[in-house]
Amino acid sequence: MKITINVWRQADADAKGKLHSYQLDDVSDHMSFLEMLDVLNEQLFQAGEEPVAFDHDCREGICGACGIVINGVAHGPEVTTTCQLHMRSFKDGDSITIEPWRAKAFPVVKDLVVDRSAFDRIIAAGGYVSVNTGAAPEAHSVPVPKVDADRAFEAAACIGCGACVAACPNASGMLFTAAKITHLGLLPQGQPEREARVVDMLNQHDAEGFGGCTNIGECAAVCPKEIPLDVISQLNADLRTAAVSKKAS
Ligand code: FES
Repeated sequence: MKITINVWRQADADAKGKLHSYQLDDVSDHMSFLEMLDVLNEQLFQAGEEPVAFDHDCREGICGACGIVINGVAHGPEVTTTCQLHMRSFKDGDSITIEPWRAKAFPVVKDLVVDRSAFDRIIAAGGYVSVNTGAAPEAHSVPVPKVDADRAFEAAACIGCGACVAACPNASGMLFTAAKITHLGLLPQGQPEREARVVDMLNQHDAEGFGGCTNIGECAAVCPKEIPLDVISQLNADLRTAAVSKKAS
């Protein structure tokens, strides 16, 4: 099929970007979206032009590296990662506009690549558990109720792609932060640092320039791992507990 793609081109973080149109005349509907971009880059390379910079790694929906706003929607028309989106979701003659994640906390590095190290700093602020080193404990020595294990596992599926931020009108990173807090806070290993974790991670979230959550829900609607919105309720519950503890101490 023939498609027109309007791609955000921006030489570097300080340059002024704009959309450029390119025509592709032989796109297979079996191609993934990133393979379509590979074809575009091959075409640009042959013409002596600068290829389009975009992030990717596993191309299997696991690593969270890929992320593009496609026709105004984070990761495009299917609820999946950009690398798992296929050109069969489009039709002959379509015009597709692709842009980087748009958020103050995710500055553009080049073209479609943004700097998502703000997420790393939120994790460094509290997204971990401290354990004594030594041999791994016997699995059954730390029982975890099935309902908690399932809920923690569901939250742990977050791959940190940043689609939640890109979709949110407030550019909030709350779904990401809440997923990590829920994942660790429901497990026995996460209890010693539970109250400090929620405070430290939220402080870092705000310091990075992410907006606040106003329960719009766009984040959960585009999340390729279907992290539920109510992890944010868990975050708020942990925050209340931390505030009450601080007041009582
Ligand atoms: S490239 Fe790894 S999730 Fe898309």
